[in-house]
Amino acid sequence: MIKKQDQIIGDSPAFLDMMDQISRAAPLDRPMLVIGERGTGKELIAWRLHYLSNRWNKAFQKMNCAALAETLLESELFGYEPGAFTGARNRRAGRFEAADEGSLFLDEIGTMSMAAQEKLLRVIEYGEFERVGGTDTITVDVRVIGATNIDLPAAADAGEFRHDLLDRLAFDVITVPPLRERREDIMLLAEHFGMAMARELEWLVFPGFSKQATETMMDHHWPGNIRELKNVVERAIYRAWDGEQPVCDITFDPFESPFRPPAKTNRRLPATAAPAPTASPPDPATPCLPDGPFDLREEAASFERKLYEHALAENRFNQRAAAKHVGLTYDQFRHGLKKHDLL
Ligand SMILES: Nc1ncnc2c1ncn2[C@@H]1O[C@H](COP(=O)(O)OP(=O)(O)OP(=O)(O)O)[C@@H](O)[C@H]1O
Ligand SMILES: [Mg+2]
Repeated sequence: MIKKQDQIIGDSPAFLDMMDQISRAAPLDRPMLVIGERGTGKELIAWRLHYLSNRWNKAFQKMNCAALAETLLESELFGYEPGAFTGARNRRAGRFEAADEGSLFLDEIGTMSMAAQEKLLRVIEYGEFERVGGTDTITVDVRVIGATNIDLPAAADAGEFRHDLLDRLAFDVITVPPLRERREDIMLLAEHFGMAMARELEWLVFPGFSKQATETMMDHHWPGNIRELKNVVERAIYRAWDGEQPVCDITFDPFESPFRPPAKTNRRLPATAAPAPTASPPDPATPCLPDGPFDLREEAASFERKLYEHALAENRFNQRAAAKHVGLTYDQFRHGLKKHDLL
């Protein structure tokens, strides 16, 4: 769902070139394709194409083609007549009718069935279709904007997408650059999402990111692009509790934890295959395990605190040396000391 506050942010040459192309393409009454990796902002761009067109005050309908099974997708797009299938008691208009005079955004268009593609081709070409189970021809005026993260020409060559539909759809193609190809935008977006999150948490000011955090974000590959960046920033901010020090802890993987269960199936091994317990000496790094029920978080936090104290003692209370000793940055180490009231 696009909200008013969802501005498109960016300052890199690749981003500005794309914005330029969007502004020029928007007023043309032609279908458009938006191609890009996941999380690059394809939906925002489709909405902008609509908003900058002459249809801006008419409907902007959105349909994710991967969300519905083949027959359901057809009735969702084109509507149905009573009795078209079991349970179809009343006539229902589809998305094409709802988007009349406006735009229809078809997300993940590459997953559409051949039958739906055939109907889509006709509606793009002539503005005509029939509701599922109907014979009356309906005429609409809809601008179709398709999006996908797959290589459509390759899909067409493989016989999975109609070449003729591709030709109609691809009047022009807007290819969204991935975030790693527009590094200038990383911190701009991080600050934008950071400020919005700080506001949500009712912090008085947004203290920004530490140098280390900035470097960490600049060096990341961002496979999930802007959606990933938004999540990483929001997570870093809500985990940093005071809103006074620059945010320093960046976690890319929220599953990261010393307690993460190992990646293996939970299938029970047959009794005979169970390894015999070996009486190995306890690992010296393992703390005494509590007897009976215990609060896992409390135990873990208390062990972590002991490790910080130990690291400090081992390094004559030199925080920089201690941080290095335990594989943390100075900022991360200080953050930990603060968390455990050791500063
Ligand atoms: N340039 C941008 N400026 C600000 N926010 C952006 C920008 N691009 C994307 N976003 C935000 O990133 C998130 C992902 O964007 P969007 O849903 O449009 O991506 P997508 O390309 O459609 O991804 P997917 O292929 O996974 O569906 C959204 O929260 C969107 O608001
Ligand atoms: Mg999307």
